[in-house]
Amino acid sequence: MQYEHILVETRGRVGLVTLNRPAALNALNDRQMEELGHALLAFDGSDDVGCIVLTGSEKAFAAGADITEMAGLNYADVYKSDFITRNWEQIRRVRKPVIAAVAGYALGGGCELAMMCDFIIAADTARFGQPEIKLGIIPGAGGTQRLPRAISKSKAMDMCLTARMMDAEEAERAGLVSRIVPADRLLDEAFAAAEVIAAMSLPTVMMIKESVNRAYETTLGEGLLFERRLFHGTFATEDQKEGMQAFLEKRLPSFKGV
Ligand code: HXC
Repeated sequence: MQYEHILVETRGRVGLVTLNRPAALNALNDRQMEELGHALLAFDGSDDVGCIVLTGSEKAFAAGADITEMAGLNYADVYKSDFITRNWEQIRRVRKPVIAAVAGYALGGGCELAMMCDFIIAADTARFGQPEIKLGIIPGAGGTQRLPRAISKSKAMDMCLTARMMDAEEAERAGLVSRIVPADRLLDEAFAAAEVIAAMSLPTVMMIKESVNRAYETTLGEGLLFERRLFHGTFATEDQKEGMQAFLEKRLPSFKGV
C-alpha cells in the first residue's frame, strides 16, 4: 500500500509510524486511518519488529477526526458504514505493544487513538481533550469508555462535558500517561522504552499485553485465572529457560522469541 498521510520506518527492532498531515494538525481522515491500520498490522506480522511507536508532529499528535470529512455526513451514512469502526478497529487487532509518543494536541479522536495504544509517553507540551461536545457530537472511538477507566469517572465526565484540555502534568497525575519527558527528548525516550520491550521475549511481551487488556473485559476472578494460565504457558517457552538460567549465571538473557 502506498502511504500518503503516514511515514513508516524501522529502527532496530522498533517500528515507527508517524502521522503526517501537519497542515491539518493530523486531523484523522479515512484514508490516514486505513494506512495506519495497514502499517501497524504489517509491523505486527513482521518477525523483525518487537515493539511499535506511534507519534505525530511537534504541534499535534492528532487534533481529532477530520471535521471536514464528517461535516456532510448524515445519520444513515454513519450508521450504514458503522462510521469509524472499519479502520479504527484494526488497531485493536495489533498484538505487539504500541507506545503512543504524544506532543502537542491529542484531541477527540486523537486522544482516543492515543488511548488505544498500550501506554502513552507525553512530551511536556502535550494537551489532551475530548472536545466533541462543542461540535454537537459525543466521542465515538472510546472517549466515554476508555477515559473513565484511565482517569476516573469524575475527570472523564469533566473532560467530555466541558471540553476542557488537560496538560501533560494533569494527565500524568490522573494516570492517563505513564511518563512525561521534555519535548525534544520525546522520540528518544519512546524509542528507549520500545527497545527495552523489543529485547524481551516476544511471546511473553504479547502475553502481558493480552493479560493486562483482559483486566478491562472481565471479572477479577476470571482475569486472575486467565493470567495464571498464561503464566503457566510461559514455562513452555525456551525463553523462560533462558531468562532464569541467565539470572542464575549472572549474565544478560538472550531471548529468541520461542
Ligand atoms: C479538520 C482540522 C482539525 C480537525 C485542526 N484542523 N483540527 N481540520 N479536522 N479536527 C485544521 C484547521 O482547520 C486548520 O486548517 C489547521 O488544521 C490548523 O488549525 P488551527 O485551528 O488554525 O490551529 P490553532 O489555532 O493552533 O488551533 C489548534 C486547535 C484547533 C485548538 C487544535 O485546530 C481545534 O480546535 N481543532 C479541532 C479540535 C476538535 O474539535 N477535535 C475533535 C474533532 S471530532 P486551515 O486549512 O484553516 O489552515 C472527533 C470525533 C472522533 O475527533 C469520533 C471518532 C473518531
